[in-house]
Amino acid sequence: MQRHPLFTAIPLGLFAAATSSAALAEASPLEQQLKDLESFQVIAHRGASGHAPESTLASYEQAYEWGVDYLELDVQITSDGQLVVFHDDAIDRTSDGEGKINDHTLEELKALDTGTWFNEAYPDNADPAFEGTEILTLDELFEHFGHDTRYYIETKSPQLNPGLEEALVEALEAHDMIDTGRVLVQSFEQDSLLKVHELNENIPLIQLVWYHPDEEDNTQLKEWTDVTPAPDDITDEDFKAIAEYAVGIGTNHMYEQQVVIDEAFIRQAQENGLPVHIYTVNEPEEMERLMDWGVNGLFTDYPDRLLELID
Ligand code: G3P
Ligand code: CA
Repeated sequence: MQRHPLFTAIPLGLFAAATSSAALAEASPLEQQLKDLESFQVIAHRGASGHAPESTLASYEQAYEWGVDYLELDVQITSDGQLVVFHDDAIDRTSDGEGKINDHTLEELKALDTGTWFNEAYPDNADPAFEGTEILTLDELFEHFGHDTRYYIETKSPQLNPGLEEALVEALEAHDMIDTGRVLVQSFEQDSLLKVHELNENIPLIQLVWYHPDEEDNTQLKEWTDVTPAPDDITDEDFKAIAEYAVGIGTNHMYEQQVVIDEAFIRQAQENGLPVHIYTVNEPEEMERLMDWGVNGLFTDYPDRLLELID
């Protein structure tokens, strides 16, 4: 495992102290991006996906116009090797097609309508302009916004998407997104993150975790991929092991109605060099509670609500 070269042995909060003022003045874009992770980040989950069809240009344009810090997206790979911005393993829920996304070519996916479902599911936010929306490729997203925003990219379902990491790193390099401090790569799969780092060690990584009741003993919590023990059992060493390769951690805070982490979890992660981002938080009361806990950012489908709170 390899710690991010720019974060080596510098606990969160000591970045500035460990860096001379002259060096700070000359911080590279990538150094600045890492420093910004100490502040609060507004992360638009699949774009402003409470207002427009998720993972579409309309959703990202709305979030961008509101001035979010990051556009969050999931990438998957088509049967002909193209990267598309899409969350589900299957295309059924958010398009008029059927089947697994990676059983289709890009041409087949481009023929789908990924907007009309939203108008039917969310009539209060429906807009005829969403009808016929095409699936978005990663290249199209990068070409549209360029270096004017930052991207928080999840390698989604890596086992179902062989070649995903290689194609993603190639795209990030081709669009000059890394040294310019434009991208974080996130995954629930530690192996996927480590593969990204093998391909380019400068890419800042976020380890995602998901805590849920253990199926064998539902009084205990379990992390989905066992990347950490249950929150109550996490040691400093567990967080430090993640901080060897990642610059932050993304976690749920609720499982259904059950709270799964607390303020002490946030503090312990931070003290071990890991800023904490929480997904997916849409209610202002929850946003305020988590901000009071000192989290470093929230993923939300409603960036307008979060921006209003922090203005
Ligand atoms: O990437 C953070 C959060 O988006 C993870 O959950 O299922 O929305 O990708 P999901
Ligand atoms: Ca995601």
